[in-house]
This record gives sequence, C-alpha cells and structure tokens, in this order.
Amino acid sequence: MRSDIAVDEVHYLGWGEPLLHPNFRDLVETVRALSPGTIQEVTTTGNADFRASLGGTYIDRVVVSCDGVRQEEYQKYRINGSLEEALRFMRDAKLHGHPDTFVEWKYILFDGNDHPDDLIRAQVLADEFGLDSLLFIVTNSKTRSLRYTNDTMAEIPIRSRRTKISPAAAMMIGSRVSGHVDPARSQLGDRENASLYIDECRVTRGNMLTVSGWSLGADGSYVDEVELIAGSHRQVTQTHDLRHDVAAARSNAQGARCGFLFRVPLGGQSMPDALALTVRLRNHTQDFSAAVQWPAAG
Ligand SMILES: C[S@@+](CC[C@H](N)C(=O)[O-])C[C@H]1O[C@@H](n2cnc3c(N)ncnc32)[C@H](O)[C@@H]1O
Repeated sequence: MRSDIAVDEVHYLGWGEPLLHPNFRDLVETVRALSPGTIQEVTTTGNADFRASLGGTYIDRVVVSCDGVRQEEYQKYRINGSLEEALRFMRDAKLHGHPDTFVEWKYILFDGNDHPDDLIRAQVLADEFGLDSLLFIVTNSKTRSLRYTNDTMAEIPIRSRRTKISPAAAMMIGSRVSGHVDPARSQLGDRENASLYIDECRVTRGNMLTVSGWSLGADGSYVDEVELIAGSHRQVTQTHDLRHDVAAARSNAQGARCGFLFRVPLGGQSMPDALALTVRLRNHTQDFSAAVQWPAAG
C-alpha cells in the first residue's frame, strides 16, 4: 500500500538481528519500490554471509557492530559470535556490495578490546577492506573502557583517515559552548566549484568539537567528501545528513543528502579559532575557511 507520508529513513536495528529475517532483502526492495528516496540503513552483527543476505540489493548504509579484533574479547559481548565472520562480512560488503553502499565498522570500546594495538589493528583492517568508516564509540555502560573515556578519547591512536570517534548517544548531553563563525573573516558560501555553509560550531562534553553544515557542488551535485582541519586535527566525512531546507531552497540540488557533521575530540587542546575545509568532487576540489570566535572564559 502506498502512503502519502514521506519517510526520510528506515533503520533496521532494535534489539534483534535484522539479517535473521529470512527475506530481509525483500523488505529493502519493497521500501525502495514504494519510496525510492528513503535512505535505508541496517545495523547488524555481520555474523551472516553477505552475498546470501544482501548481495545484489542496494542498501544505503551497512553498519557492522564488531567490538574487537581478537576472538576471545569479541565473544565476551557477542556470545557464540564469530569475529572471523563479522570481518568477512565487512570485507564482502565492499567487495561484492553495491559501489554506493556506505559500510561502517562500529567498534564500542570496552574494558578488554581497547588496547592501542587492537585499535591500530582495526584501522589496518578497515583500510585493507576499503571500508568507508571505522567508528570507535566511547560508552558509559558497566564494562566500558577505562582507558578511553569522555575525557581521554582524544588519546585514541589514529592511523587511518577512515577513523572517527564518538561518545555513545547517552553521553552527548551536557555542557556545551557555541562558537560564532565570523563571516567577514571566513571564506564560506558559494564558490567556484562548490558551496559550503557552516550552521553550527560548538564544543560539547569531553572537549569534542562539533561542526555541522552542508555542501553541494556548484552544479547542485553531491560532493564526494569534506575534509576538516582544526589545529592538529584532520577528519574526513561524507555528506550523509538530510537537509530538506537546503533542497527546497536550491532548485538545482541533487537531493537533500548534503548535510555533514564532524565530531573531533580536542583532548587537552584549546578551541580552534580557524577551521580549514576542503570539498572533494569528482574532478575538482574547493577550499573554504572559517574564523571562529568563542565566548571569553569565566
Ligand atoms: C543491540 S544492537 C541490535 C542490532 C544488531 N543485532 C547489532 O548487534 O548490531 C543495536 C546497537 O546497540 C549497540 N550496543 C550494544 N551494546 C552496547 C553498549 N553496551 N553500549 C552502547 N551501545 C551498545 C550495538 O553496537 C548496536 O549498534
């Protein structure tokens, strides 16, 4: 049955395992047929055969929960789970999946899987498999990592441009300081090859710099990636977030999927007063810069 209600996104997750559904592929294809613009994301243990469960189907995002790179640690949380299968699933998702499917390895830091060697190993594997993202999550649950917390997550060794760090959703509440982007000293907006606007620049708990905005190519097409340099920090992201306001205001916009969000743990470093951003498009790049003013301390 067709509905007049527009659905932005469908996430298959909850407390179950979506890929245990014998006809998971049919769900994805039914949603695609009824509502081609809806973004579909599945979160899975990846303890499945990729080709048997998702091969030949286009799904926008595949998130694989895989907390560890050693079986003895992995199985503490994933009872009877197979690390080997989860790794193979991620590799196959890039090897045999649709080329536009975004594949993310979600790695929650617990008290046994958080050794720096393990985190470096995960980054080597993520590069080897060509994953789009490796997300380390700092959590506050009982068996959380004590090595990497909200206050120390900037110490996580970063070896890959695919690596991102984020606190678990439940930890993101708390104090925040908003910065003001000074337009007179910034180079943002519509430029030769691309447009980029920053909507918000703030620092949240754990000294986490959060920068959100949107970007599109000059012809309205989606950009390949956006890179942020803030002090000694460098991070790359894609424009995943839906911005219907931008799509409505820009008649040539390819679609609403043009929003970006950076989360950069600053550690002991102070709030950066300059941001450099580079937008990469198929045949071009475009540089932007932002001067940020922060409220005076005290
Ligand atoms: C419960 S799972 C269900 C979906 C799927 N079976 C899976 O394991 O990814 C949903 C999400 O909860 C997350 N999760 C599980 N334990 C967690 C914890 N202690 N702290 C934060 N997130 C957790 C998983 O990483 C996953 O992304």
